[in-house]
Order: sequence, then C-alpha cells, then structure tokens
Amino acid sequence: MNELNIQILPSLLAADTGRLAEGVAAAVAAGADGIHVDIMDAHFVPNLSFGPDVVAMARRESDAYLSVHLMMDNPDDYIRPFIEAGSDTLLIHIEPDYDVAKTLRDIRSLGVRPGITLNPETAVEDIFPVLEADLVDEVLVMSVHPGFGGQSFIADVLAKARAVRESFPEVDISIDGGIDLDNCAEAAAHGCNVFIAGTSLYRSDDMRAAVAEMRSKALAALAGSRD
Ligand code: DX5
Ligand code: ZN
Repeated sequence: MNELNIQILPSLLAADTGRLAEGVAAAVAAGADGIHVDIMDAHFVPNLSFGPDVVAMARRESDAYLSVHLMMDNPDDYIRPFIEAGSDTLLIHIEPDYDVAKTLRDIRSLGVRPGITLNPETAVEDIFPVLEADLVDEVLVMSVHPGFGGQSFIADVLAKARAVRESFPEVDISIDGGIDLDNCAEAAAHGCNVFIAGTSLYRSDDMRAAVAEMRSKALAALAGSRD
C-alpha cells in the first residue's frame, strides 16, 4: 500500500455492544475497507474493552480486513491469541516498557502486518528507530488520548503525521480518535491514508454515505497535497 491508498476503518468500539456482530456487518455493508478493533487493558489505558474472542467473532462474521489496536502494557504476551483470532494488522504502542522491536519482528514473522502507535504527547522521534529498521508497515497517530471513544480530535498531532510522511513515504499512516467528515481532509493533507472512525461513522444516519464521503474528501485532499 502507498499513501494514495485510502482506507476507511470503522472502529467497533462505537457499535452497539450488545450487537457487535451486527456492527461488523454494518461496516462491511457500508463499503468500509475493514474494521478497527480496540483492545484496552485497564493498565495502559483507564478502560477495558474487548479480548481475542471479539476479534474471532469479527473474523467469523466476515472476511473483512481486521486492524487490531493493542492498548496494553504487555502486548508481547498477547500477540499470538490475537493473531490466532484472525487479526490482519496488530498495532502496538511505543510507550510501555517492553522490547518493542522484538514484538514487531514477532508479529511479522507470524504473518501479520506490524504497526507502531504513538499517543498525542509522544514525540515522533521516538518511533523513528523502528521505522529506520524497517520493522513496521503502519504508523498509527493517536488524535485523542486512548481509552475512550467519542473524544474531540487533537489537531496538533498532525504535524507528527507530516513528519513521518516526509521521512518514510511508503509507510501507511493511520489516524485514530475523533475523526469525522470535517477533519479527515486535513488529516489526509498531512499524509494520513488510513482513517479510523468510531462515533462519526456508527452514529451517522447513513453509514454507507458517510464512508463514501470520508473516502472522497480524503482522496481529494491527499491528491491535492501531492500536486
Ligand atoms: C480510542 C480508540 C479509538 C476509538 C475511536 O482509544 O483507539 O479507536 O474507538 O473512536 P472515535 O472515532 O469515537 O473517537
Ligand atoms: Zn483504536
């Protein structure tokens, strides 16, 4: 994938918790490029969400691309269950204290795309070593403090997306948190090509129209930024 390959990924966290399978089906029917699944451990972030069973459910319900975001202090202990459950991409965080490079290598060696994530307050330079070592296929720039859906977009983080895009033109850059039809173009203009959106897509009146509009706005902005 390159930076003109737009992906729109609804975040399952915003689906009705009692009807997660329907949430998966709704994203697929809406023409999304896959589904983003948030895993929260109540240590790295102050909330609990899903485990591998929910990823396995999404895999049973569809053949959609599954982007799985491990907001965990010890993702190294959990990559196998999430891979066995059917993840296509595993996004781990740079901030906790564990062997990030080894975990990224392990993810790739198990046949899954490795991605590195950074929180709003984390310096972009912190992820440069794993990018320079070619250990990641994707960089996830958090545009909210992780732990909860429905928060407001933090525009300042887009400078980090631009810095990654300038130095590493081939890597996918995803943006996660508060993404909607008003800010997706700005994110794309800064080099983001994967748009993770929970509230704005699942709460829209017409998810299919919202996915299409997000895609066309992002595409126009991304193409324009490269003129
Ligand atoms: C936040 C999660 C996000 C969240 C996005 O911790 O990583 O993926 O589900 O939800 P919205 O789009 O509602 O901010
Ligand atoms: Zn997420």
